[in-house]
Amino acid sequence: MSDYKSMTSEEIVATRKQHMLPSVNHWFRKPLHVAKASMQWVWDTEGKKYLDAFGGIVTISAGHNHPRIKKRMMKWIEEDRPQHTTVFFLSEPVAELAARVAKLTPPGLKRAFFTNSGSEANEMAILLARQYTRRTEIIALKHAYHGGTVGTMSLVAQHTWKWGGHAGQDRGVHRRADPGRRRLRDSAEGVLPAHPRDREEVRRHLYLG
Ligand SMILES: Cc1ncc(COP(=O)(O)O)c(C=O)c1O
Repeated sequence: MSDYKSMTSEEIVATRKQHMLPSVNHWFRKPLHVAKASMQWVWDTEGKKYLDAFGGIVTISAGHNHPRIKKRMMKWIEEDRPQHTTVFFLSEPVAELAARVAKLTPPGLKRAFFTNSGSEANEMAILLARQYTRRTEIIALKHAYHGGTVGTMSLVAQHTWKWGGHAGQDRGVHRRADPGRRRLRDSAEGVLPAHPRDREEVRRHLYLG
């Protein structure tokens, strides 16, 4: 296991403190130093094995180093394929993935927009909602976490994740409790759009699920 240990935990903590912003916080007095990972398992520097029920906060949805993904990545790297290209240039994977996603999604959902993070995905959701409704207000749940960008942070309702204070960026955000779908639906009535067609549209979506 020592093969995987190039820095001690103390060195990592000290280096992070010196060279990274304080918002990159480890929260724990003695944070877990993850040295190795395979599928649903992670190991610390002492070789202790853990079941990873955290998934990198939902970002490692396919597990760590899944053999099929690893094989494809290794082949790609060995062939000196590009690590990244702008969408202005052509490269197979993005088109291939979009076509695969389209096969998995319900009829009518045939176009993908890829992002690097949950925050960007939520930014896109806000943009699409605004374009579709031609309104700017957003209903966000109390106690919610939606991301670390300016747009998504305006929806976040946890003081620990609202860096830089509120500074007016929450304008147009309506907060509603989420004690259940029925209460959400009722409380949303107060901020429904004026146009009857739009009101019906929003109501219909609140009834879904
Ligand atoms: C519910 C939820 N929304 C949004 C995000 C933001 O995702 P990211 O950190 O990838 O930007 C997270 C990340 O923890 C999340 O848990």
